[in-house]
Amino acid sequence: MRLISTLNGQASWPPPTWLMRQAGRYLPEYRATRAQAGDFISLCLNPALAEEVTLQPIRKFGFDAAILFSDILILPMALGQGLRFAEGEGPRLPPLETLSSLSLSAAPGIYAPVLETVSRLRASLPRETALIGFAGSPATVACYMLDGQGGGDFPRTRRLAYEDPGFVDGLMEIMVEATIGYLSGQVEAGANCLMLFESWAGIFAPQIFRRLVISPTKRIVSALKSRHPHVKLIGFPRLAGLMLAEYVHETGIDAVGLDTTTDLQAAQAACPPGTIFQGNLDPLLLKLGGPAMEEAVARILDSVKGHPHIFNLGHGITPDVPEANVARLMELIRAA
Ligand code: CP3
Repeated sequence: MRLISTLNGQASWPPPTWLMRQAGRYLPEYRATRAQAGDFISLCLNPALAEEVTLQPIRKFGFDAAILFSDILILPMALGQGLRFAEGEGPRLPPLETLSSLSLSAAPGIYAPVLETVSRLRASLPRETALIGFAGSPATVACYMLDGQGGGDFPRTRRLAYEDPGFVDGLMEIMVEATIGYLSGQVEAGANCLMLFESWAGIFAPQIFRRLVISPTKRIVSALKSRHPHVKLIGFPRLAGLMLAEYVHETGIDAVGLDTTTDLQAAQAACPPGTIFQGNLDPLLLKLGGPAMEEAVARILDSVKGHPHIFNLGHGITPDVPEANVARLMELIRAA
């Protein structure tokens, strides 16, 4: 698997490629399977249909990795918090008031279908296609648990981090433990590597970043590596800015996803030598296609030549991306 050798530090050319949100609404076959499932959460919890939507972009574009089809909010749901996806608006949760409403012991029974999806996928994927398991990082998941929705800068979460540190740090304890169990289950079910989505890393002041982003991530990485010494983890501290190098250095993460705003060469200069990067084509360029996309792809390929690198977007693919542009992207990478 080219993705796994890259995570082990071996450069491979062209770089292994996959796209965040590669299974999704830009594909007509995804929309059809989602309609068959009824709603998004039912799709995540239906192993046969979740397997199917994970495989769709692999069949169509031949990416080097498949990412388990699920969502970062399935874990808080499994811990007992309500979750619904409002059509066209994104997730809604009843904002968390007490830690006693969460149950660590009930969670594995509720997320069991997700682990079944992982084992089905490992059996059905081509041998050379790596299977990526994932979870949200505790701070990002807590943003949704405490504010109850996205769309802004999570004011309640940021305020509680200062005003009620006991509550927020207690929530981190629960999420660290739950995430270790959940990811460990994914590795045991057949995931070849793992990714931690810290999509809201960019909203925290540095001291809060250290407390809610770096420290919980470090504990998750170290627990997973002690249980599964060969497993590699990719972190994605989106919009971390100048905190990126400290994140890489302190957490022990094996590779780091770069968001659209981060200059690859500046990240290479700032992070410890040998850091493996993933990213970071602007998803807007994938939508627009044409010469602007072609130039940006060439620039990324040029700056990663000779380094172990994973080609990806700087954030998820949007529903309005034409499939032909994804096909063209793969053609450009394969011809490199
Ligand atoms: O293909 C893949 O990348 C794997 C599946 C995956 C989904 N969500 C499917 C999904 C993964 C890895 C995620 C992660 C996720 N979920 C993140 C972190 C990455 C990021 O985008 O920053 C976050 C913040 C979430 C929470 C979430 N899920 C939001 C805010 C939304 C609504 C926004 C939207 O795009 O509609 C979702 C819904 C969601 N998760 C969809 C998919 C395919 C769209 C659901 C649909 O079919 O209507």
